[in-house]
Amino acid sequence: MTTPSPRAPVLFKGASILITGGTGSFGRQFTRFLLKHAKPRRLVIFSRDEFKQYEMQQQFADMDNRDVLRFFIGDVRDQQRLSMAMREVDYCIHAAALKHVPTAEYNPIECIRTNVNGAENVVQAALANKVKKVVALSTDKAASPVNLYGASKLASDKIFVAANNLSGSVGTRFAAVRYGNVVGSRGSVVPFFRGLIAQGAKELPITDTRMTRFWITLDKGVDFVASCFAMMQGGEIFVPKIPSMRIVDLARTMAPDLPHRIVGIRPGEKLHEIMITEDDARQTVELPDRFIIEPAFKWWDRGPYAKQGAGAVPDGFNYRSDTNPEWLTAAAMRVLLERNP
Ligand SMILES: NC(=O)c1ccc[n+]([C@@H]2O[C@H](COP(=O)([O-])OP(=O)(O)OC[C@H]3O[C@@H](n4cnc5c(N)ncnc54)[C@H](OP(=O)(O)O)[C@@H]3O)[C@@H](O)[C@H]2O)c1
Repeated sequence: MTTPSPRAPVLFKGASILITGGTGSFGRQFTRFLLKHAKPRRLVIFSRDEFKQYEMQQQFADMDNRDVLRFFIGDVRDQQRLSMAMREVDYCIHAAALKHVPTAEYNPIECIRTNVNGAENVVQAALANKVKKVVALSTDKAASPVNLYGASKLASDKIFVAANNLSGSVGTRFAAVRYGNVVGSRGSVVPFFRGLIAQGAKELPITDTRMTRFWITLDKGVDFVASCFAMMQGGEIFVPKIPSMRIVDLARTMAPDLPHRIVGIRPGEKLHEIMITEDDARQTVELPDRFIIEPAFKWWDRGPYAKQGAGAVPDGFNYRSDTNPEWLTAAAMRVLLERNP
């Protein structure tokens, strides 16, 4: 699991920060982290649904410096609105996305409009407003994608990496963070199993007993993203070192007495996820808590990471959820589930 960077809060102190998708699982946790540890001057929550924003305002009503929060209704598909929201912003976290695989398969153009056109709009708005740094959230599904959600996030990653070539004297730096399943996030397998168990289900559906996934908690994700802001030069895809677990072992941990029904792998699903392909590995260096896929820019300087002890990964390396050296035990997952209700 990753360790938080103590430098990140210093970077954010007194800064103006915007989170697209700020009312989502990640956005709310990142907001809590910033209000607690970083003392930002202004924190803009950018999203579409006023009710989610209202609920978030209620949830944060008892936090000391909640007055720095600004709730901005807007759609990442709307470049003008995004540009207005980004006025005088120093740092932007791009978390807004359509992220459900079946939704993206059924509504491909909607997925492309939000995840791909939205990424371009974030880049344009950040450049127009001379934002200092932008970090976009990506997913393991973007590596060798087999579904449109993953493919749209791969396109988004490419847009953010290449955006560094556009920034010239403006100096905005763009990077991406790629990670796996967030324990307990909305619409994921943990709340799905929890719902079935609470309803008194007699069995849990398992797609394939071999299926594995990477796992990260929201807290670790937030710490990791914050640390990437501190260290990024622009153009990197940061990948945290996180553990794997088989879905069937997760089911056993959550409901030891329930039998399983094998339902088969669904269209657009992989048996195992991958975060770094063999081809990406040629550009990848490793630090104790993370991998960094470096951009293939002529101007890229390996020096700063080499100074921190980063070395190239071996030839033919890949980072997959089934061959990952780090695994979650049932006991460790139980603790994560208790802490992430
Ligand atoms: N959760 C995971 O397991 C996981 C794993 C890896 C990567 N990620 C990535 O992490 C990011 C955040 O995920 P999350 O779990 O926080 O998602 P989430 O809980 O579904 O939140 C998504 C947020 O984006 C907003 N949004 C959606 N479409 C928008 C649009 N067109 N314009 C503006 N805002 C929009 C939503 O609010 P409105 O609907 O009100 O607009 C909401 O605030 C995503 O990029 C996702 O791909 C998530």
